[in-house]
Amino acid sequence: MRRTIACLLLAILVFPGVEAAQPVRARKAMVVSRETNATDAGVAILRAGGNAIDAAAAVGFALAVTHPSAGNLGGGGFMLIRFADGRATFIDFRERAPLHATRDMYLDKDGKPTRDSVLGWRAAGVPGTARGLEFAQRKYGKAKWADVVAPSVKLAREGFAISYGLANGLKTAKNLAQFPESKRIFQKSGSYHAAGDKLVQPELAGVLERIQRLGARDFYEGETAKILAAEMAKNGGLITLDDLKQYEAAERKPLEGNYRGFKIITAPPPSSGGIGILQMLAVLEKTGYEKEGAGSAQAIHYTAEAMRRYYADRAEHLGDPDFWPVPVSKLLSPAYVNKLRASINPDKATNSDDIKAGDLKTMESTETTHYSIVDAEGNCVAVTYTLNGGYGSGVAVPGLGFLLNNEMDDFSVKPGHANMYGAIGGEANAILPKKRPLSSMSPSIVLKDGKPFLVVGTPGGTRILTSVMQVIQNVVDFKMNAQDAVNFPRFHHQSRPDKLQMEPLFSPDTRKLLEQRGHTIEIVRTICEIAAIQFEDNGWLAGAADPRVEGKAAGY
Ligand code: DON
Repeated sequence: MRRTIACLLLAILVFPGVEAAQPVRARKAMVVSRETNATDAGVAILRAGGNAIDAAAAVGFALAVTHPSAGNLGGGGFMLIRFADGRATFIDFRERAPLHATRDMYLDKDGKPTRDSVLGWRAAGVPGTARGLEFAQRKYGKAKWADVVAPSVKLAREGFAISYGLANGLKTAKNLAQFPESKRIFQKSGSYHAAGDKLVQPELAGVLERIQRLGARDFYEGETAKILAAEMAKNGGLITLDDLKQYEAAERKPLEGNYRGFKIITAPPPSSGGIGILQMLAVLEKTGYEKEGAGSAQAIHYTAEAMRRYYADRAEHLGDPDFWPVPVSKLLSPAYVNKLRASINPDKATNSDDIKAGDLKTMESTETTHYSIVDAEGNCVAVTYTLNGGYGSGVAVPGLGFLLNNEMDDFSVKPGHANMYGAIGGEANAILPKKRPLSSMSPSIVLKDGKPFLVVGTPGGTRILTSVMQVIQNVVDFKMNAQDAVNFPRFHHQSRPDKLQMEPLFSPDTRKLLEQRGHTIEIVRTICEIAAIQFEDNGWLAGAADPRVEGKAAGY
């Protein structure tokens, strides 16, 4: 297997433009998500005449049932839409800090960060998913709301077959084991669900049925809200009925930039992703970094140096734009980008200390999820949403059956202290009531000659933006098809820790060349799980699920 992959990779390197792996191809419409039932729910809505926004809501609700580590009602996310008529919009349904949140709420009496931002009731920000999906669907969808929620109700009420990966994930989730309700639902009280068993979730079905009947209002003001607020109060959580009532999704203008004649539409703050992708690509554009080929030491060195520089900016300047003036145009200005590019030594890695000091921490196993959709009219939707860590805070709300996020950990709980992704931050990303924590989620859409070319995104914490960028590079610079671009090994650098993370398939001599340039390499099993759709020149859609996980691309 490894040999086959190595040969395929070699074929790509030696003959740029050769296709090694085949994406799923369809003429009119395509859905790519992390889970088969969710993809099928999206395709069914499209076939029944719904548009990509309807399908996005349906897939979002379905994943809340079938992909519990990240699919959610208790979390939040971003939806990027590019309409067939050329308009684009960005719906921000990221969680917000509760009204009672305070800047130092995760520090103990000695000023040391506690685990409360990661585990348990106090880790949760006010969830945004139900409101965000409803906002998008009501404003831009055309199907009946009840039809869009229906597949998720059925999956929760009647159950679905647990996959091999899900069975493993549920069994090994330590956070779920710590909360009786989570353990009961997701770990069969310690006897565990096996692959092939049915997971039936009656409490979650009840919540979804109310959303189907009464709208997201029930989640924020009705029965669900009341149960959630009461459980929060009982368990020392912060979220109140007021928090829920006041939660709003925000509609923002997407960020746009150009790279080698392609237009990139991507996530604005409170995501750090879009600015990062645009800045890093701008730094690379005039370097000729791609000349030695995909996966070459030269290409990886330049790209890693661009990554290292952006993460120093991220730590300092990025936060919720409703609370902090993010200097977007300065970070993307040609003068600044030229300065960054000029500071890269082609033969030697820069020491991250010389860019910005930080803290070192390893990454934990984590989860978020991304899905990409194109409909027959040509509307494109890219959604990334999350509970933050795998299964979020570990808390399933009694009576409601959904897990709560631990998104509060995406704030900078203390200046210079690394969060669970090793990211550091400061004032720009400090905790304030109603503020949204800084995100890396980067749903993106690339245009070629003004027409849709690539819809792309991924989970992976701070590695999201660097992975989305690599898929864009693979398609634009290395001429790979969507599936090869998604399959190709990935790497990541985030300045702090000062390590170049690489997937295992890069060759030992490439690694050696990078070490000779001064990079410290850390081999990691996998980096991210992309869901991409490419518009091929012949008019076909190419859907690429990531073989690193159990996703599915399907269309018609
Ligand atoms: O918003 C963010 O950047 C993080 N909460 C995303 C977490 C994530 O992607 C974990 N997935 N593997």
